[in-house]
Amino acid sequence: MTAKTAVVVIALTLIAAFLGVLVWVRYLTGAFGALERPSLFEQWLSNEARHFATPSEAKKLQNPVASSPEVIEEARVHWADHCASCHANNGSGDTQMGRNLYPKAPDMRAVPTQQLSDGELYYIIQNGVRLTGMPAWGSAGDGSGNQDSWKLVLFIRHLPNMTAQEAEQMQKLNPKTMQEFEEEKTEREFLNGSSPSDSAAKHQK
Ligand code: HEC
Repeated sequence: MTAKTAVVVIALTLIAAFLGVLVWVRYLTGAFGALERPSLFEQWLSNEARHFATPSEAKKLQNPVASSPEVIEEARVHWADHCASCHANNGSGDTQMGRNLYPKAPDMRAVPTQQLSDGELYYIIQNGVRLTGMPAWGSAGDGSGNQDSWKLVLFIRHLPNMTAQEAEQMQKLNPKTMQEFEEEKTEREFLNGSSPSDSAAKHQK
């Protein structure tokens, strides 16, 4: 084969591959919507890729923070504020955002998450997961020393034993929109027997 024919063959192969990908995206995957669940193959492939891409030293890292009720409490507050919108207070991932991402937020109480090493969980929290909804929560200079992320790792280990009561208490700590905040305030004032206009009048005095 001459060099010229080789170039033509390579170019045609690339064009065919590109068209193949276009057809796959357009007709076989339901375009780019996030409503579907990734296929088992896709899920397996992306988990393996993630596992493979995590440096082996990171997987071996030991948690420098010891678990205690105070540490779990601190991480619980952090989780309710930063993680629960996708992962839910109990780690099930059953929230409007968690359910509708592609890939979905996983049930972190289950074996696939719990069998990840502490170092792997820390690495994911710090670096996020590319092409998914999982943001990076660390900064470039953190190395293995971000205490808040290590505390969240302890909280993830606590998820399978969490009580429904604990998850309920966290609702107060979940971020609220201005509208929800106002609605709750009006409800509180109603239950306390004063109307919102009373309290507005008090503020004006
Ligand atoms: C905007 C949505 C979103 C928020 C907020 C979020 N996550 Fe995630 N997270 C995800 C998604 C989606 C995945 C699944 C990624 C994948 O499939 O590789 C994920 C995966 C993870 C995983 C890996 C679990 C596994 O088994 O694959 C960990 C650990 C994690 N998140 C921790 C956290 C922590 C801790 C916080 C808060 C500081 C947080 N996440 C906030 C969306 C989110």
